[in-house]
Amino acid sequence: MKLAVIGTGYVGLVSGVCFSDLGHEVICVDKAAEKIERLKRGEVPIYEPGLKALIDKNTAEDRLQFTTDLAYAVKQADIIWLAVGTPSLPNGEADLSYIMEAAKEVALSISQDTILVVKSTVPVGTNEKLENLIRSHTGHTVAMASVPEFLREGSAIKDTMNPDRIVIGTRSPYAQMKLVELHEPLTSNIIVTDVRSAEMIKYASNAFLATKISFINEIANICEKVGADVTMVAEGMGQDRRIGSSFLKAGIGYGGSCFPKDTQALIQIAGHVDYDFKLLKSVVDVNHDQRYNVIRKLEAILGDLHGKSIAIWGLSFKPETDDVRDTPAYEIIVSLLERGAMVRAYDPVAADNFRRSFSALDVQYCPTAAEAAVQADALCILTEWDEFQRITLNDIQSWLKSPNLIDGRNIFSEEQVTGTEFAYYSVGRPNMN
Ligand code: UGA
Repeated sequence: MKLAVIGTGYVGLVSGVCFSDLGHEVICVDKAAEKIERLKRGEVPIYEPGLKALIDKNTAEDRLQFTTDLAYAVKQADIIWLAVGTPSLPNGEADLSYIMEAAKEVALSISQDTILVVKSTVPVGTNEKLENLIRSHTGHTVAMASVPEFLREGSAIKDTMNPDRIVIGTRSPYAQMKLVELHEPLTSNIIVTDVRSAEMIKYASNAFLATKISFINEIANICEKVGADVTMVAEGMGQDRRIGSSFLKAGIGYGGSCFPKDTQALIQIAGHVDYDFKLLKSVVDVNHDQRYNVIRKLEAILGDLHGKSIAIWGLSFKPETDDVRDTPAYEIIVSLLERGAMVRAYDPVAADNFRRSFSALDVQYCPTAAEAAVQADALCILTEWDEFQRITLNDIQSWLKSPNLIDGRNIFSEEQVTGTEFAYYSVGRPNMN
């Protein structure tokens, strides 16, 4: 099939590249000329394992193209994908201006009947608004479908190629047939729904996963007080198939471009129909507060943080990505600086992005983990990069001024910690020293 993908952010780029790898002819479109030029040169604008190899392969085999020319891309497309951003407005609602603009441009450019798939995360009812907008700008028949995205950064290709399920929300039997045909090689688990339910499945899924994380983080906080170990509790809970073991890793709270945005948006969506989504509001509050446990633990060890040198390992919101959007590291570093601490930070991949995104922060960025830790009063581990898990506590102790460690992601085990001189605080586990 011939596909046009509008928007080369995480979702658009990965989906487009994966479809080309399945043998379809894909044209990826973006307004950002510089980004498109970079992609044409084989430079990948995001850090995503395996993505560059797939781009190189499929451009070389002439199945994948990049352009700023939306009209050229959509003219011949059997299926057009809208994968532009829907960032948060200041009140938490999704900003639909980019997707509305893109839909209008599509409508003005198509030259045949086609299928338009909305891949961006949009509030319930948006597909209908888009359909009305498109109808008013073209005489061609455009069959609409909502096919929400469930890929995770860092494992985006694997998630796209082996999805747990594909949700197709459409009223059009033709769109349903073509989209089932397109996705069948990926999974037999295709769920066809009405459009509004498909839109809701996306928000409900992210909100539920966020709820699991905040739930286990609160259990962790209680575990610390009653002397239980949250990793064991999560394992014991997760064995119950009704609960499931994933997304029960306690830590410093979720970040990224999706959970924070989508939870806020769902609270707003509910609010618009006079529903007070109390549970989700608490999930958001708990998540926010969880970040400050790092500060509380540092103060428990060091007292006043003024003038103290604090090493930070990990700036991205999770490993295997350079994305720093809503990363817990930001708020933690801001509160350290507010308290007069000096911050030395290291991240294997995301440091440049962090420095650029938060240029006002007075942080010393270090080229290695060791350099960030040298002569620091304490080390905080905020992202569970593999690299950190390979470093021994002996090495860390030799670098630090005093052996104080806040392990925000529980990367060290009890055996590793017991018997060392570390003042060691992790999340939801009894004090090991
Ligand atoms: C999330 C969803 O997992 C995807 O299914 C969805 O498609 C995507 O949002 C989206 O809406 O586009 P992503 O934000 O890439 O994906 O990352 P996750 O792996 O879900 O992690 C999100 C945050 O939760 C990270 O900060 C991570 O550290 C945290 N987390 C995750 C925990 O603290 N504990 C866990 O057990 C799992």
